[in-house]
Amino acid sequence: MTVTVTLNPFGIEFDCRDDETILSAALRQGIGLRYGCKHGGCGTCKAQVAAGDVDVEDASGFALMPFERDAGMALLCTAYALEDIVINLENYNEEELAAARPIRELECKVESVAPISRDIWRLLLRVDEPPFEFDAGQFVEVNVTGTDEWRAFSMANAPSDSGHIELLIKHILGGKFSSFMTVGIADGSSLRVRGPFGQFKLNEGFAPIVMVAGGSGMAPVLSMLRALAEQRSEREIIFYYGARTKLDLIGEIEIVKVAADLKSFVYIPVLSEVDPGSGWNGETGLVTETLGKWSPKLRRSEAYLCGPPLMIDAAVKMLKENGMFGSRIRFDKFVSTAEAQGGRDV
Ligand code: FES
Repeated sequence: MTVTVTLNPFGIEFDCRDDETILSAALRQGIGLRYGCKHGGCGTCKAQVAAGDVDVEDASGFALMPFERDAGMALLCTAYALEDIVINLENYNEEELAAARPIRELECKVESVAPISRDIWRLLLRVDEPPFEFDAGQFVEVNVTGTDEWRAFSMANAPSDSGHIELLIKHILGGKFSSFMTVGIADGSSLRVRGPFGQFKLNEGFAPIVMVAGGSGMAPVLSMLRALAEQRSEREIIFYYGARTKLDLIGEIEIVKVAADLKSFVYIPVLSEVDPGSGWNGETGLVTETLGKWSPKLRRSEAYLCGPPLMIDAAVKMLKENGMFGSRIRFDKFVSTAEAQGGRDV
C-alpha cells in the first residue's frame, strides 16, 4: 500500500510505502527532511502530524516524550504512515527541502582493502554505475553480506571522484562488518551500498574553519579537505586530529597533499599516549585540550567535528567558551552499533 505525505506549508507531496518510514520515503525521493541518528534516538526528525494516522511505536520515550506523542508529534525516522497524512514543518525553507540528493542503492566492487593503522582499514569501492553523487561529509550504509543489516561509514574521497567510495573502517571486536576487514575481503568482491545520507556538510562562504576529528572521524574531514583543496580554497583552516599513539595516526600522506593546494592550512595532530622512545615532539593530551590552548577568539569561525560523542561534546563546549556561535558548529557523532542500534560499525 502506498499513501501520500503532504508537507505543510509548502504543499510538497511524496509517496510513502507501508514498509518504509516517513523519513526513508522522503530521502528516497530527494526531499531534504532533517535527521541525525535515523533510529529514534536524537529527536532531530521530530515533527507535528497535523492530519492522518501514523504508527510511532518504535520511538524512544527519551527522544519523543509521552506528552509530545499525545500532542501528535512523531519521529519521522521511526514512524510509518497508516493513511494519507499531513506534516507541519517548523523553521524549514523550500530550498532546504529541495537540497537533498535522492538515495540510491548501488552495487560496488572492492578495489582495494588494507590496514592503515593498528585498527583502521581503508576500503576502496568502485561504483558499478557511476556517477555516485554526494557532498563532502556525507555517509553511506553498507550491507552486511548475507544479512539485512547495514552499517554507516563516511566517505573520505572528494565528491569529484564520483566513481569511487573510499571508507575508513575501524575494527570493532565482534563488529559484524568491520570483522570482514580482518578476515580478508577479496578484491573484486561485491558489496551493496546505499546513500548518500547525512547533513554534515561544508558551508559555502569565507569563514575561517576549525576541524576536529578523532580516529576514523578523519574520513568526512578528509573528504571536505580534498574538496577545498580542489577549489584552491583560500579560507583559513585549522585541523586538530586526535589519535592514541603515533602508530594510530592516519592520513598523513593525504594531509600533506591537500596542504599543498590550500593557502592557509594548519594541521595539528595530538596524541593521548606518548611512548618516551617514539621521538614525538608534537601536541599531547586530549585533542580538546589542545583545541582550547590554540584557538583564538572564534566568533567569525565555523567548526566541523567528527568522532566519538565524548570528544564532540567536549569540543562543542570548548568552542563556545572561545566565542563560537552554536549555530556555526556542525558535527557527526560516530557511535558503534554496539552502542546504538542502527549506528555505525566503526
Ligand atoms: Fe534521530 Fe529521528 S533522526 S530521532
